[in-house]
Amino acid sequence: MSPQTLSSADLSGAFADHEAVILLHDEATDLRGFIAIHNTNLGPAVGGTRIRYYKNESEALEDALRLSRAMTYKCAIAGVPFGGGKAVIMAPKHMNPREKQSLLRAYTKRLKLLDGHFYTGEDVGLSEKDIELLERYSDAIIGRPKVGDLPARWAALSVYSALEAALEEHFGSASFEGRTFGIKGLGNVGSELCGLISARGGTLVVADIDSERVRKVQKLYKVRAVPHSRIHAEAVDVFMPCALGGDLTAKTIPQLRCAIVCGAANNQLATKEDGHRLHARGILYIPDYVANAGGLLNVVAELHARGYSRTRVMAQLRKLKRSVSEIIVESRKHNVPTSDVADALAEKRFRIHT
Ligand code: NAI
Repeated sequence: MSPQTLSSADLSGAFADHEAVILLHDEATDLRGFIAIHNTNLGPAVGGTRIRYYKNESEALEDALRLSRAMTYKCAIAGVPFGGGKAVIMAPKHMNPREKQSLLRAYTKRLKLLDGHFYTGEDVGLSEKDIELLERYSDAIIGRPKVGDLPARWAALSVYSALEAALEEHFGSASFEGRTFGIKGLGNVGSELCGLISARGGTLVVADIDSERVRKVQKLYKVRAVPHSRIHAEAVDVFMPCALGGDLTAKTIPQLRCAIVCGAANNQLATKEDGHRLHARGILYIPDYVANAGGLLNVVAELHARGYSRTRVMAQLRKLKRSVSEIIVESRKHNVPTSDVADALAEKRFRIHT
C-alpha cells in the first residue's frame, strides 16, 4: 500500500478517535481490507463485514472508520453492552464465487486474532450463504440464520416504532390513517415497512432503482410509484430513506416536502451540518442509527448469556422507542437538532466508562 493513499487530512482526524485499526492482508488469496475497532468502553466491538469493490485502500479505510464509529453510537443508544467495529474486505471488480469463498476463509483466520473482541455478521456483499460459510470457521459470527430472527425484519420493526413515536410527538397522534409515507428503497427493510404501514392504513408513495422491486411491492400493496430521483421531493408526511446513505444533503434538504424524516438507511446525513439544515427547516429528523437499531438488537441477542430471546428483543425495542421520544422532546426544549441530541446522549453513555 502506498503511504500516499492514506495521507489525507480527513483520515488523520478519523483515526484519532479509534482504538485500533487492523490491516487485513493475505498474499495467497489477495485478501485486502481493514477491521476498525472504534470504541470498546461498553463491551466488545460489533459490526458487520462489508465485501465490495473499492477504488483504493483509502476509500475502504474511510468506510471502515466511518461505519465502526456509527456502530459505537448505535450500541450506546440501543443500551447494549457492546462497542463499535466494522470490517471491510476489498473485493475485485468482478469476483466469482470461488474467489469470494477463499477471501472469506482467509478472513476468518484473521478474525481469530480478535477472539472475543469483535463480533461480526452480514453487511453489503454478504449473503445468508456466506454467513453460513463464515460461521463454520469462526466463533465471531452473529446474525446466524438458524439462531435468531431476520435482521431486516427487526430493522423494519424499529423504524416502524420510531415512526410511531415521531408521529405522536409531531402530530399529537400515532395514527397512520390519513398520513402519506414516501419510501425510497424497496429492499428487505423497505418492502417490510410497506407491509407494516399499509396494514395501519397509511398511504404509500414508493421508489426503487430496480423496477422489479417496485413491481413486487405493487402486487402486494396499494402504492403510488414515482421516479427514484424525485421521491425525496414528493409532498408526504414522512420521507423514509431505505436505500443507501447520503440522501440528506445541502442540495436535497431544500427540496424536501415532508414534516418528518425517518428511515432505515445508515448514514443518511451527508455531513453533520445537514442535521442542522433539517432542524432549521423545521423538519423532524429521527437519527438513522436510532431508528434502525432494531437490527442490531436482534443480532447481539445471540450473544446473551441465556441465548437468543424474541421477547427480550421486543422489550429492548420498546425502550428504544422511548429514547426516540426523549430525543425529540430534548431537541425541542433546547432548540437543537435531534442528530446532535442523539450524538450527545450516546457519547455520554460510552464516554462515561473511560
Ligand atoms: P437491500 O439491499 O435489501 O435494499 C436496498 C434497496 O434500495 C434495493 O432495492 C435497491 O435497489 C434500492 N436502491 C439502491 N439505490 C437506490 C436509489 N438511488 N434510489 C432508490 N432505490 C435504491 O437493503 P436493506 O437490507 O433493505 O437495507 C436498506 C438500508 O437499511 C441500507 O442502507 C442498510 O444499510 C440499512 N440497514 C439495514 C439493516 C438490515 O438488517 N437489513 C439494519 C440496519 C440498517
